[in-house]
Amino acid sequence: MDRILAKQLYWGYYATRIYLPLSGLSRHWRRFLRHIKGKPDRFLQHTQLPEISWKDCTTRRSIKIWEHEKENGNVRISELGILSALAADCRDNTNLFEIGTFDGRTTLNLALNAPAQCTIYTLDLLPDRETVFSLAKGEEHMVDKPKSGSRYERHRVTYPAVVGKIHQLFGDSAAFDYTPYKNSCSLVFVDGSHSYDYVMSDTRAAMEMTSVGGVVIWHDYGVWEDVTRALDVLEQREGYGLRSISGTSLVYWKKPKELTGVLDHIPDTHR
Ligand SMILES: C[S@@+](CC[C@H](N)C(=O)[O-])C[C@H]1O[C@@H](n2cnc3c(N)ncnc32)[C@H](O)[C@@H]1O
Repeated sequence: MDRILAKQLYWGYYATRIYLPLSGLSRHWRRFLRHIKGKPDRFLQHTQLPEISWKDCTTRRSIKIWEHEKENGNVRISELGILSALAADCRDNTNLFEIGTFDGRTTLNLALNAPAQCTIYTLDLLPDRETVFSLAKGEEHMVDKPKSGSRYERHRVTYPAVVGKIHQLFGDSAAFDYTPYKNSCSLVFVDGSHSYDYVMSDTRAAMEMTSVGGVVIWHDYGVWEDVTRALDVLEQREGYGLRSISGTSLVYWKKPKELTGVLDHIPDTHR
């Protein structure tokens, strides 16, 4: 086994077998201490979705992680491990779609783990553009960056087979034309703006792009208030079967056969 592959497998193991259980424990401990002291923790919101273990979302246990260092705006390494496992589960020759590229760390790992003929589309907002809805306060630094996808770009020359699977798209997720991707995606990752209206609109797009049996993952449930509220409201109203992945801020949904028509309940703002 070459040295780089061994390192990638090491970080995949660390993410899901060491970091994930330990961070879950520390979260419970923090909640417990706050409860004893009678002080609410503004970083730990009340969540309503039922939980599911990551092991029930994927049978993959051998996961590769590249660019393990986390920047402010990236997913946690445990979440990256789970997303990578789900990418490895994707059917070959299908699409994966990410809403919200940022520096492209997750994009790179989706491409690394997905089967060889899959295409990874990643959509990002260019800085200083008018948006359909207001962005959430505190996410400006993720939009105002010199370049989207810098972390996959740096590997383009040395790893063309992996980076060549990635197609960068630009636009506002609430105005973007998703028609070419409808029912084509084995995995959609929703991680764009954290405002309520965007989460609603991105959710509709994600569910439409996903093929039957494909999976949608949302990030920042229980972390950004509007994300939490939007997903709780949708589940309460529609009973989609959204599940919060234990020890993470990821939400999981697998598209059933009989969804047709149900999406009419999510406002269609971009047509
Ligand atoms: C939390 S970061 C994404 C992090 C990335 N998915 C990762 O795992 O490292 C949010 C990204 O969403 C993008 N974004 C925010 N609002 C958007 C919009 N309306 N349409 C498209 N992208 C948007 C931002 O530019 C930023 O790159």
